[in-house]
Amino acid sequence: MNTLSPKRFRNPRALHDFKGRTCSVLAVGSYVPERVLTNAALEKMVDTSDEWITSRTGIKERRIASEHEYTSDIAAKAALRAIEKAQIQAGQVDLIIVATITPDMLFPATACLVQQKIGAPRAAAFDIEAACSGFIYGLEIGQQFIMSRTYDTVLVIGAEKLSAIIDWSDRNTCVLFGDGAGAAILQNRPGSHGLLTACMGADGTKAGLLSMPGGGSRCPATTESVAARMHYLRMDGKETFKNAVNAMYTAAKESLRRCEIEIGQIKCIIPHQANRRIIDAVGERLGAEPEQLFINLDKYGNTSAASVAIALDEAVQCGRIEKGDLVLLVVFGAGLTWGAAVIEW
Ligand code: UT7
Repeated sequence: MNTLSPKRFRNPRALHDFKGRTCSVLAVGSYVPERVLTNAALEKMVDTSDEWITSRTGIKERRIASEHEYTSDIAAKAALRAIEKAQIQAGQVDLIIVATITPDMLFPATACLVQQKIGAPRAAAFDIEAACSGFIYGLEIGQQFIMSRTYDTVLVIGAEKLSAIIDWSDRNTCVLFGDGAGAAILQNRPGSHGLLTACMGADGTKAGLLSMPGGGSRCPATTESVAARMHYLRMDGKETFKNAVNAMYTAAKESLRRCEIEIGQIKCIIPHQANRRIIDAVGERLGAEPEQLFINLDKYGNTSAASVAIALDEAVQCGRIEKGDLVLLVVFGAGLTWGAAVIEW
């Protein structure tokens, strides 16, 4: 049964209701590690095939960070690209939010490590953990600080080194994920790249569908927990798939309703890049044309919190999004969590 309903969204207001104040996505930037892991290479590691991976997921290759390249490094590279495109200085950043499920360490926050790496000494910094929905959660949190006049410049980053928590002997999961980061600079800048709405939701009753059981207070690292492979990502793929389609559809509809726009008015839909079949199913239920959907999961796989941020940056870079276009981002992840955002570029 689909338990999702628009009533479960926390903030029923479209953001353009706020008097005179807007939140703009000034610029986005992204970074993916150089090393490419192809389906052909995976065929040599586990019992799988390019044919299976391509037909069931749409993924052809993914990027893998080097041993000494951590989530904070990947995040900092994406952040510096966004900062350069926004034509601001790192020292202007008031707040850094890093969305990740693969922090460098359980604490301190990866955002603090990024603050040091990009040289943003006056910024407050914290991490959020909403899995693949993290970037949209970050956008909504960031825009609240802009709209409330608490901060002028907010840096939101989705960054992951998922290769560090993948069980490379489990064919059910190891073919799906990759490493990367995407970043956005938020400011009150009327008339450009306005974030019209961002909404988010969660359903903790289904937390067990996608998780990493080991390493927290419930199951700290022991010889037994390592032997039982508790420190790797685990997923019930089929159930996650069904929930993803329902949640992404519901989140997208809710964000359109808040902005009082129809799907046909959206120039580019940027869905979470987990599975081509999920993206197609969501697009079909929304009544979208295939050419409205932006897809790059063939190159990167599922990069969790970084997924839609990388895709947004690429869509802008390749001219799929131009000034004035309406863009819909829609995400889903462990938690369960979900969310959507509409940007007038
Ligand atoms: O980012 C968070 C959100 N994540 C998602 O939304 C992911 C959602 N889930 C999915 O994308 C899909 O469920 C998967 C891609 C993970 C799996 O696709 P599926 O069509 O649901 O396949 P399945 O799990 O039902 O597995 C079908 C068969 C099984 O074999 P049997 O039991 O039918 O003999 C699997 O063992 O495919 C087998 N299989 C594989 N075969 C070759 C599973 N993984 C592989 C593999 N290579 N890598």
